[in-house]
Amino acid sequence: MDFFLKILMLPATLRKKKAPDYKTRIFVVLLFITIVVLICTAYGLYHQKILQKAYFQKIKFNKLKRVMKIYNNEGHEVIRARLGTTVNYDKALPCLPSDERKDGSICLEWMGRARLYLQFRELSTEVKCYNLQWIALKEAIHPTDCFDLSQSNDHWYGGGQTAESAWPLEKGNHDFAPFITGRVDKHEYGNVLKRYFISSKGVALMVDDITPLYVSVMGVDNKELCLKAKYDDFAYVNRIMKTAQLNYSICISSDMTKLHSNLVDNALWDGLKQEDMNVVNSLLTEPLWEITSMLKSELTEETISNYTENVIALGFLKQGHVLINEFWQKHVGDFEVDSERFPTLEEAITIMHRRGFRIVFSILPFISTESSNFAEAVKRRLLVSERFSDRRIPALTRYKSIQSAGVLDITNNRTIPWLLDKLKTVVSKYQFDAYYLDLGTAYDMPHYYECEKPLINPDQYKTLFINSLQSSVSMFGVNSAIERPKTPTFVSLPQFESSWDGLRRVIPTVLTYGLLGYPFLIPGAVGGDYEAPMTVYHTNYTSELLPDKELYVRWLQLATFLPVIRYTHLPSTYGDDKVMEMARILTSLRQGKVTPLLKKYAKASLDTGLPLIRPLWMLEYNDTACHVVADEFSIGEDLIVAPVLYSGAREREVYLPAGVWKDGIDGSLRKGSRWIHDYKVEVDKVAFFKRMPDDTRF
Ligand SMILES: *[C@@H]1O[C@H](CO)[C@@H](O)[C@H](O)[C@H]1NC(C)=O
Ligand SMILES: *[C@@H]1O[C@H](CO)[C@@H](O)[C@H](O)[C@H]1NC(C)=O
Ligand SMILES: *[C@@H]1O[C@H](CO)[C@@H](O)[C@H](O)[C@H]1NC(C)=O
Ligand SMILES: *[C@@H]1O[C@H](CO)[C@@H](O)[C@H](O)[C@H]1NC(C)=O
Ligand SMILES: *[C@@H]1O[C@H](CO)[C@@H](O)[C@H](O)[C@H]1NC(C)=O
Repeated sequence: MDFFLKILMLPATLRKKKAPDYKTRIFVVLLFITIVVLICTAYGLYHQKILQKAYFQKIKFNKLKRVMKIYNNEGHEVIRARLGTTVNYDKALPCLPSDERKDGSICLEWMGRARLYLQFRELSTEVKCYNLQWIALKEAIHPTDCFDLSQSNDHWYGGGQTAESAWPLEKGNHDFAPFITGRVDKHEYGNVLKRYFISSKGVALMVDDITPLYVSVMGVDNKELCLKAKYDDFAYVNRIMKTAQLNYSICISSDMTKLHSNLVDNALWDGLKQEDMNVVNSLLTEPLWEITSMLKSELTEETISNYTENVIALGFLKQGHVLINEFWQKHVGDFEVDSERFPTLEEAITIMHRRGFRIVFSILPFISTESSNFAEAVKRRLLVSERFSDRRIPALTRYKSIQSAGVLDITNNRTIPWLLDKLKTVVSKYQFDAYYLDLGTAYDMPHYYECEKPLINPDQYKTLFINSLQSSVSMFGVNSAIERPKTPTFVSLPQFESSWDGLRRVIPTVLTYGLLGYPFLIPGAVGGDYEAPMTVYHTNYTSELLPDKELYVRWLQLATFLPVIRYTHLPSTYGDDKVMEMARILTSLRQGKVTPLLKKYAKASLDTGLPLIRPLWMLEYNDTACHVVADEFSIGEDLIVAPVLYSGAREREVYLPAGVWKDGIDGSLRKGSRWIHDYKVEVDKVAFFKRMPDDTRF
């Protein structure tokens, strides 16, 4: 300051000798200001320089603010993150030599709070990956990194279905929730998850399996995706590490679709047999009939044979698979057919087989306390036990109609042989064709569960269960997963309530699951699922449960283009010729135009891991309009579908990616890379567009 004052005084002392004119004074003042500005700028730049260091050429990291920016090969900033948001301490130091790793990683420590390892890995010439690992040094620190989602023209996808069914991800908004499966009407995430996120700027985030992961998407102006590692008393109760560790990779490429192809699991044919491929093809070509009943007493041999007779009476639908829920047993967990309601099931199944149906029975890992197997399983200690209690005491839970049930402890090596023994007896007596695993979600685990070997989280249970049964019984589908089961096992979408809102959730969910690496999906029932809230507890439910007619028709139009078509209510239940006519037309459309494409792309997906049902951006990753379309999809790269998803709507907006497209309604040719506004779609029509060769002329 003194120094500045002296300079200011200078003109005054000069004045005594000879008063300078005002021009000189202004010149001196300007010179002075310039010098001050230059000094300040230099100081600032110098400070920035020492704070913001460059790592591995493409990362800039400001240690004080813990802001990280990563640049792609072209030098564009593609992601910006706030790291260690919970560290609350500014000074970062290099790690002690004893904490350094000898693998080329950079190590920084925020004294006694957290340590960060940063490592570089080149996956291929096109894909560069950076691994970040935060280690909390104190119990109270939950390492948290947040990624900016609000950059212009940047859109994010992946993770799983959220309560908002947001597509892209930044449209959603939710606080930190454990990243485990649940039901979106009660929890934050749906029935299928993968710790994988990808953005349109070509950035992917992949979190390691043992990280006790919480995720949020929050913020008003600056929306952020945050990852947090935190142990708790349910989802991440088993402390695999002493303190929470957040371990994830950021992979970068200039092209989002190439990045995805590089990261997705792409040898789905590994270990596949011809029979398996036949199962895939039969599911793609034939419907799935789900015979559900809310009351156990209503599911009888007669209901099933009447249902299959009604299917045949329709005349135009193929036979396909009949899926029977857990009510084939007297009590869930019996693993035996209830002979009261199914006295002659063997003959009934023989008849259904002769008619061309295949029969699938649901099995659950839950054993009702009313089942005779419960006492046996307790005695043999095959059940998950209650934490903080005697190991012999089973932990109880509820699931669907079962008021109290134990859960088979899959980590105990005597459980699977016991279960397989029971299942094989049933299969050999009744000649079932396959089983469907109804595993519930992570939240269906008893709250104080304890297995013989600790699980990383309750979702690991599913993977263990699926893997240990897969080689021994024919498994047709599962209703929840965190790892893709081996082909030909399909994975069900979550249940969607029978409403227009439920219908609008189907496309974002199918697209998300496809992106997570699940090409073989079973969508919910046409018209919505049986157990929809509101209708379940109605006494007069036979009339209540039939979905609204227009909704059913629009749902059928959408379902016609999805991998598997699943019915609970037959089109004939409406007693309306128009509904029947629509069903007939859509069936022939599916057989003629859709199933050949599904088969073609099913084969391709075994090699590439890419979904059958794709978002428009997979066709044209470069086209920003494609990034936000959440109500259209494409079968492979050949057919765009734009169903009507609003009650009473007779027109909609349609976007077509680059190329020449043939309109499925009027046969005209349409040029892509543009919107079609107010496109007319009457209630008996569905908008779809088939790709034509690029040189097709009008
Ligand atoms: C971090 O996660 C990666 C990917 O899952 C894994 O290969 C690596 O071993 C993990 N690092 C540590 C130190 O646990
Ligand atoms: C099955 O069909 C028969 C003949 O159509 C009918 O008499 C019977 O009530 C039906 N049973 C059930 C459970 O729907
Ligand atoms: C089952 O696990 C126990 C210990 O947990 C072990 O002693 C036993 O050998 C295992 N049995 C089989 C068949 O793997
Ligand atoms: C069920 O509801 C419908 C219409 O709401 C009514 O016509 C019918 O009588 C009711 N049936 C019974 C058994 O209450
Ligand atoms: C992507 O878009 C840019 C400009 O919009 C264009 O120059 C470039 O050729 C496009 N690349 C591809 C592969 O379509």
